[in-house]
Amino acid sequence: MTAPVASPRGSLLLEHPFEGAVGRKVTYEAPANLALVKYWGMRNEELTLPCAPSISMTLSACVSTTTVEVHQRAGRDEVLLAGEDGRLERAGASFAAPVRRHLDRLRAGVGIDGASGGHFTVATRNSFPSRCGLASSASGFAALTLAAVASLGGETSFEELSLLARASGSGSAARSVLGGWVVWPSPPNAPNGPAKQLFPPEHWDLRDVIAVVEPGAKEISSLAGHRRARSSGLFAARLGALPSRRAAVERAIAARDLARLGALVETDAAELQAIALSSEPPIVYPTTGTLAVLRRVAGLRDSGVPVYWSLDAGANVHLLCEPHHERTVADAVATLPEVLRVLRDRVGHGPRRLEKHLF
Ligand code: PMV
Repeated sequence: MTAPVASPRGSLLLEHPFEGAVGRKVTYEAPANLALVKYWGMRNEELTLPCAPSISMTLSACVSTTTVEVHQRAGRDEVLLAGEDGRLERAGASFAAPVRRHLDRLRAGVGIDGASGGHFTVATRNSFPSRCGLASSASGFAALTLAAVASLGGETSFEELSLLARASGSGSAARSVLGGWVVWPSPPNAPNGPAKQLFPPEHWDLRDVIAVVEPGAKEISSLAGHRRARSSGLFAARLGALPSRRAAVERAIAARDLARLGALVETDAAELQAIALSSEPPIVYPTTGTLAVLRRVAGLRDSGVPVYWSLDAGANVHLLCEPHHERTVADAVATLPEVLRVLRDRVGHGPRRLEKHLF
C-alpha cells in the first residue's frame, strides 16, 4: 500500500479529485537542474529526506515533456516513452515501474483508490540523453507530478508540488518545479521542507555547456549511490563542511562571482565523486572521456577562460561559464574525440504547461 502524500497543510491535496478529470489531457514541460551543492545521502529513504540541503540552477534546454490522460476504468497505467526518433513506445519496466509507483502515491494523496479507476496513460519525451547522470529523473518526475496533479483538477502551491515531486523518490525533482536558483529543503534546518527559489533566473545569465561522453544509461543508479554514501569514511567530513559551503555558494550567486562559485562547485562535485569511489562497494562514475574534458577545462583556464566543471552521478560533464565564453568552451570540448555531443544550456524559468500534447 502506498502512503498518502503528506502536504504542508497536513491534509489531502485536492478536494474534488477525479470528477471531470476523465478524458482530459494535460501536458507539462519541466527542466532538469544542475546541483551546485549536491544532494548525496538520505536521512530517510521512505520520505526521500536528504542528509543535507542542496542548491541548484534550473536549466532551460534540457527538459522532459509529459502528457497524461486519466481514465475512468480500472487497470494498469500505460507508460509510454519517446524513442530517439520521437515515436512513442511502451516503456520498459525499469522506466515504467517508478512512474506507476509515483502515480499510486499521487492517487492515494487525492483519495483515489487505483483498484476502482483513475488510471493514466502517460507519455514522456526528453530533449536530452536520459538516465546518464544529466538529471532526467528530476525533470521527468517534476513534469509527471505537475501534469498528473493538474489533470486531477488540483490547484496547489509550488511548495506542495515540490513535496509531491520529492515523493517520487528522486529528491532532485523537488527542485525542478521552480525556475532560477533553488535551495532544497527550505528552511535548511527542516529536512521535510520543500524547495524554494533563492534568486529568479534573471538574476544571472550563467551558461552550462554539457559535454556528453557517455549517453547510455548508467549502471549504478543515484539511489544506490545515496544508500552507499554513509559507508564512505569521507561522508561525515562532507556533512561537517556543507553548512559553510552552502552559505558561501549562496553569497557567490548573490554577488554573481563565477570564480568563487566555480571553485566551490568543483570542490563539491569532486567530493561527491570521492565519496562514491570510497563507498562500499565503490562506485566509479567518471570515464576516460570525463577526465579528458576535465583536462581540457584546466587548459582553458590556463589560457584565461573562466570555466568550471561539475559532475553528477554519471560521466557527463557540466561546464559553467559566462555567456561570452560559451562558444569558446563548447568548441574546445567538441574537438575532443571522447565528446560525442555538446549541449548548450543556461539558467531557466522552470516548468510550463503546454497546449500541444504528445498523443
Ligand atoms: O534526485 P536523485 O535521487 O536522482 O539524486 C540526485 C543526485 C545528484 O544528481 C548527484 C545530486 C543532485 O543534487 O542533483
